[in-house]
Amino acid sequence: MFEPGFVNPSVLSQPVYEPGRPIEDVARELGLDPDTIIKLASNENPLGTSPKALEAMRAGLGSVALYPDGGATRLRERLAQRHRVDRNEIVVGNGSNEILELLGHVFLRPGDEAVMGTPAFIVYKLVTLLFGAKAVEVPLVDHVHDLGAMSAAVTARTKLVFLPCPNNPTGTLNPAGEVMSWIGTLPKRVVVVLDEAYAEYLETEVDWSPLWMEGRRVVVLRTFSKIFGLAGLRVGYARTNREIADLLQRVRQPFNLNSVAQAGALAALDDDDWVTDCRRANQEGLVQLQDAFAGAGIEYVPSQANFILCRVGDGQAVFRELQKRGIIVRPVGGYGLPEWVRVSVGTLAENDRLLRELFNLNC
Ligand SMILES: Cc1ncc(COP(=O)(O)O)c(C=O)c1O
Repeated sequence: MFEPGFVNPSVLSQPVYEPGRPIEDVARELGLDPDTIIKLASNENPLGTSPKALEAMRAGLGSVALYPDGGATRLRERLAQRHRVDRNEIVVGNGSNEILELLGHVFLRPGDEAVMGTPAFIVYKLVTLLFGAKAVEVPLVDHVHDLGAMSAAVTARTKLVFLPCPNNPTGTLNPAGEVMSWIGTLPKRVVVVLDEAYAEYLETEVDWSPLWMEGRRVVVLRTFSKIFGLAGLRVGYARTNREIADLLQRVRQPFNLNSVAQAGALAALDDDDWVTDCRRANQEGLVQLQDAFAGAGIEYVPSQANFILCRVGDGQAVFRELQKRGIIVRPVGGYGLPEWVRVSVGTLAENDRLLRELFNLNC
C-alpha cells in the first residue's frame, strides 16, 4: 500500500473505462465456440477491413525492425490533402482517444473546467478528471446535446468544450448549421473539440473551415476505428490550427503511431469504394434494426451512426442473456441508461440473429 498522498489523487479517483467485452473472454467464460459469437458492442465495422489496407499492413511488416516515421509524414500529408489543409494542421494519435488525452496534457490543470454533454462519450470525462480538472456535465434533452445549456455552462475557467458529431451512445447529431452558430456564441478563447468518430457514416461531409477563418479554436477529431475497420490498429487524427497542432505534437510520444498502422491507415484512406460500400451496408442495417424495433414496439433513438440505443427494460439482464446466446451488446447503465442497451449495426445476418434472440427473451 502506498502512503497517503503518494499516489496522484486524480488517479485514485479515476473511474474505470468499461470496454465492450472481447469475444475470447465471453467464449471462455460461457464455454462457447468463439467462431459462433458476434460482437455488436464496440461500434466496429462488421465487414472487417479494406483488403487494400490489409495488403499494405502485410507489406509494412517487412520494416518493423526499424522505428516508424515519428512524424507520420506520408499519412499526415495525405490527410491534409483530403481535408484541404496544411500538413502542419494535422496531428495523428494512437486512436482518437490518445488525442483526447493530449488535449488534457496541453490544456487542463486542477481548477480548470471542461464542458460536455451527458450521456456522451465517456473518455471526455475520464481525461478531464485525470488532469484534476472539473467535468461540467450538461444533460442531453431528448437524447440530443443541448447547445444552449452547454453555452450557459461555460465559465471563465472553461478550457475545453466537447461536442461529438454524432454522439456515442445516443447516435444523435446536432445540425451542422446550429453547431456553427453555437460556436460563434462561445468565448473565443475556449477550445471546441468536435469529435467526428462516426462522420464517414453521414451522407454529407461538414466543412468546418469557416470556424478557422473566424479565428475559432477548434479541434476536429476523426478515427480509423469505425468505418475504416481498423479499431485494433489504433489510429486517429485531429485537424486544428497550427498553434494547437504544435502544442499537441509537443506532448505526444515520439513514435506514437507504429509503422504498420501508418501503412494500413494510408491505404484505407484511399479505398473510397470500400468506404462507400460500408456506408451503404450500415444504412441498410440501420433500417433493418430500426424497422424491427418499431414493429416490435421497442423504443429506440434514431441513429446517425453505426449503432442504436434501444430500450429493453433491464439493460444488464438483456446484455447477460444475449451473451449466453453468443451475442455481445453494450449495457449502458454506466451512462445513466439502465433500461437501455447499445447495439452496433452488424451484417444483415448478424442483425437478424440479434433481433430473433432479443425478441425471444423474457426479461
Ligand atoms: C465518439 C467517439 N469518439 C472517439 C472514440 C475513440 O475512438 P478511437 O478508437 O479512435 O480511440 C470513440 C470510440 O468508440 C467514440 O465513440
